Amino acid sequence: MNKLELKISYTELDNENELSEDEKQLLQKAREISNSAYAPYSDFFVGAALLLENGTVVCGNNQENAAFPSGLCAERVAIFSAGANYPDIKIKTIAITCKSKLFLVNEPLSPCGACRQAMSEYEIRYKSNIRIILQGEKGKIRIINSVADLLPFMFVAEELKK
Ligand code: THU
Repeated sequence: MNKLELKISYTELDNENELSEDEKQLLQKAREISNSAYAPYSDFFVGAALLLENGTVVCGNNQENAAFPSGLCAERVAIFSAGANYPDIKIKTIAITCKSKLFLVNEPLSPCGACRQAMSEYEIRYKSNIRIILQGEKGKIRIINSVADLLPFMFVAEELKK
């Protein structure tokens, strides 16, 4: 029997003043786009801003639907938009933020499993890690160096070819 362990490392900052100017701006873009999320059912507003290797910023927010599963999270709206409009351009960083109409979110949010899987595809596709910056409406910032860190044992394309 082999007992194995997985470890991830990540960084936490007290607030956005400890971010680089570029990353502060990216988080700000995520916050701005979260304000125009379409979230009449959850009242939970999420914004994602991607920084591409060519300096372009691509934003997305959550889009809900009366048929609940038909909506989409902010992260996938943003990453699929980048994939559609800027194919083959690496994604360097994604900043994600959220707020609720009902309560104060003062913890970084945790992207859902489906978004982690979708984001991981782009890391593999571009052979380049995507840095993830997370913050709630306020409070500490969590930085993760790679989507792979958030999704150990992810499903990968090789599994389809065996
Ligand atoms: N949501 C996101 O946009 N991203 C996440 O990582 C988690 C959840 C959205 C989906 C839905 O519109 C609302 O937040 C509540 O789940």
